[in-house]
Amino acid sequence: MVANVPLDAVDAEACGLTRVPVDLGARSYDIVIGRGALAEAGRRIAEVLPGSRAAIVTDETVAGLHLEAVRASLDAAGIGHEVITIPAGEASKRFAMFETVCERVLDAKLERGDVVIALGGGVVGDLAGFVAASVRRGMPFVQLPTSLLAQVDSSVGGKTGINARHGKNLIGAFHQPSLVIADTAVLDTLSPREFRAGYAEVAKYGLLGDAGFFSWLEANHAAVFAGGPEREEAVAASCRAKAAVVADDEREAGRRALLNLGHTFGHAMEAVVAYDGARLVHGEGVAIGMRMAFDFSVELGLCPPEDVARVEAHLTAVGLPTTLADIPGQMPPAETFLDIMAQDKKVSRGALTFVLVRGIGEAFVERGVDPERVREFLTRELQREGTLR
Ligand SMILES: NC(=O)c1ccc[n+]([C@@H]2O[C@H](COP(=O)([O-])OP(=O)(O)OC[C@H]3O[C@@H](n4cnc5c(N)ncnc54)[C@H](O)[C@@H]3O)[C@@H](O)[C@H]2O)c1
Repeated sequence: MVANVPLDAVDAEACGLTRVPVDLGARSYDIVIGRGALAEAGRRIAEVLPGSRAAIVTDETVAGLHLEAVRASLDAAGIGHEVITIPAGEASKRFAMFETVCERVLDAKLERGDVVIALGGGVVGDLAGFVAASVRRGMPFVQLPTSLLAQVDSSVGGKTGINARHGKNLIGAFHQPSLVIADTAVLDTLSPREFRAGYAEVAKYGLLGDAGFFSWLEANHAAVFAGGPEREEAVAASCRAKAAVVADDEREAGRRALLNLGHTFGHAMEAVVAYDGARLVHGEGVAIGMRMAFDFSVELGLCPPEDVARVEAHLTAVGLPTTLADIPGQMPPAETFLDIMAQDKKVSRGALTFVLVRGIGEAFVERGVDPERVREFLTRELQREGTLR
């Protein structure tokens, strides 16, 4: 495996970019953030992985918008490359697509020291990362995240994988990238709905461990959406938060589980709608799941009710859903949610593990939550009215 070489901080800053290091010893790498960062992708990849050839994995939507810029940048740096394009959407995170992309990387005769580049959202990143972890027992991997969700969350930390019939992300590997380049200008082409969905993960960092950041978001969310410098600040703050958690607990033995705030409920919702993005995308499930985690924490006597009101008000202000009734179509009974949760990775010996809160910025992991309390809570949630107009 090629050792990762941290970029020179001065170099990134000289280009008006922000550099966030992820400190993982020999597997350390940088996240380079800012408008226009993709133009220099080839040069930066050549610095970190000199002499390598590349396979760019992307989806059909992103290819039409941003692939040419990346290819030109690789050409300018002398990096020979193949392009592997997959259909956009969660359905691509499956075995058949994994096989196809692995074979295509091998068709391209990429060697163990060459690089797989993910250009796209979390779906491309998770799939391409798992391919990189698997082909020739592990190849270097670079993330060029193009959705807000991927820039602030999925491209950092090395979790890669695909979905199984039994649930989301149940097959995969930890495989850290060698470099992440988050060009915030590419977010200008993202649909408002996908931008909002990514924003749920930004809000998550405030809600789980940084009340000051959540207050900053309450004051600055409009500027983050508008694309001003506050957008870079929000992406960088989120990456710093994720990098700190990952550096502390790379393989989720403890603290990293906090990043799952809202995800146990959220993943169950995604499974319930059969990953139909027209009804629910990942970040929307996380938004509803986070509000539910706060309400559940209130019910358990852990969290002041005023905090739930703030969470709900903020998510609603940016247009995110917060209740199960906001998901179009019929919802199944509470029992179905519980069955799905029982398959989630967050289950240990029958007891449910939840990220609960003592307030905004004070999340903690509770192992051994009584499924009966969850059933009662879900039954009430299924009777709630929606909050989106
Ligand atoms: N590995 C991790 O740590 C981690 C963390 C969180 C989420 N995830 C995974 O990430 C996935 C969700 O990621 P996502 O929300 O990025 O989904 P996605 O990759 O499906 O992207 C969302 C949509 O936006 C489009 N898109 C992406 N960038 C664009 C751009 N710049 N302009 C226009 N369109 C663009 C895509 O084509 C797609 O249709 C889920 O599978 C989730 O499980 C992984």
